[in-house]
Amino acid sequence: MSPAVEVTLAQFLQEQRALVDQELERLLPRADEYPVTIHRAMRHSVFAGGKRLRPVLCLEAGRLASGEEKPLRRVAAALELIHTYSLIHDDLPALDNDDLRRGQPTCHRVFGEAMAILAGDALLTLALHALAEPGLCLAERQLRMISDLTRAIGTPGGMVAGQVADLEAANGAADAEALEFIHRAKTGAFIAASLRAGALVAGAAEADLDALAVYGEKIGLAFQIADDLLDVSGTSAELGKTPGKDDRQRKATYPGRYGIETSRRRAESLVREATAALERFGARAQRLREMAQYLIERTA
Ligand code: IPE
Ligand code: IPE
Ligand code: MG
Ligand code: MG
Ligand code: MG
Repeated sequence: MSPAVEVTLAQFLQEQRALVDQELERLLPRADEYPVTIHRAMRHSVFAGGKRLRPVLCLEAGRLASGEEKPLRRVAAALELIHTYSLIHDDLPALDNDDLRRGQPTCHRVFGEAMAILAGDALLTLALHALAEPGLCLAERQLRMISDLTRAIGTPGGMVAGQVADLEAANGAADAEALEFIHRAKTGAFIAASLRAGALVAGAAEADLDALAVYGEKIGLAFQIADDLLDVSGTSAELGKTPGKDDRQRKATYPGRYGIETSRRRAESLVREATAALERFGARAQRLREMAQYLIERTA
């Protein structure tokens, strides 16, 4: 293929985002459906923007195992519903107390706290309903995927556990081990599970699943290190969220503990290790390799 017709990563991501958004549109209740407030609140946060990275990682992992597109897209969209729920709750006054998300006022700023809590609940519940749809794929694969994913977003060891540890460490007291736990649990576990979800639904071989799990855990941690770095160096126009908050709230972060340069190097070495785990897939994993690099070079 000549470079002129090669699809760049940016173009690829844009196309994939459009596919994910079509499926999200199918899954979400209409904005005029009774009771309208919650449906508007759910849509406000889902369609405010967002990179759709977890869905795209899921799709690409499933494609490595030659999975069918239809069930993969369903799972991918469900992951984005879960992610958006986590953002709405993360932004609540009782957690990070943020006013800006995806370039828009946060859900609770527009719809009030009660509706934001319920919108998060409804997104998570809708996602589980979509994942449990009878006939999505072979029942055994489907159950294993739901079991694996729900472990990654709950407690202990998953996203909820990580959010708890993040809140409890917000006095600058977290040691190296606690910091690693927070990042792996609040962000890494769900990213790794997003890849495994695609692979499981597609019926990937165990050795391929293991390789994707290694890749996922490495990029998941690198992703949160990059998020911490962007909180230090990014602008609200680029990020669509308010920078500088981690320091103000005395959050446990990589740059806070290790400094910017060491944190950057750690993220880079994690991406190298992640990419090495993809070796068995050869050229077919090219997009996942590119995405790993993009995750730590991004400015948004
Ligand atoms: C932000 O995730 C929350 C973290 C886990 C760090 P993203 O950076 O993927 O947010 P969106 O989906 O693009 O808005
Ligand atoms: C959020 O971490 C992790 C989640 C589970 C949502 P952050 O609190 O650092 O995410 P941002 O920076 O608000 O997006
Ligand atoms: Mg937070
Ligand atoms: Mg936050
Ligand atoms: Mg952050």
